[in-house]
Amino acid sequence: MDKNVWILKASPAVLEEVYKGKDMEFRDQVGHLVWTNKKDVPYVVFSGKCPHLGCGYKWRKVPKLGKEIFLCPCHLSIYEPSGKVLDGPAPRPLDTLPIRVDAGGNVEIIDMEFKAGTKAQTRIV
Ligand code: FES
Repeated sequence: MDKNVWILKASPAVLEEVYKGKDMEFRDQVGHLVWTNKKDVPYVVFSGKCPHLGCGYKWRKVPKLGKEIFLCPCHLSIYEPSGKVLDGPAPRPLDTLPIRVDAGGNVEIIDMEFKAGTKAQTRIV
């Protein structure tokens, strides 16, 4: 099965909203540290699955709002570029994925899947 992710070159404001000034740790199902995203790496990667029920979502320019958003067409959840929920039934923000960027600017991603439809982010793969 193909999986999609979204890679954003993030503004300082988006990085602050995603990381809240702290590195983000990712753990396996038994709690061992797998990866740590550094808060100052200027990329953010989101799972391509909407946290509501797992549909794919799109990037849309909304002139009326004067901004760009992520829009899930299935049930119209709308997210800020930081993944924060703006509207719709999504129970949590977009799921950030673990990344590492090497000196050449290559972005390495560990793909993870999280349970859809829950407020808490629960890793399933
Ligand atoms: S699956 Fe995205 S809003 Fe329902």
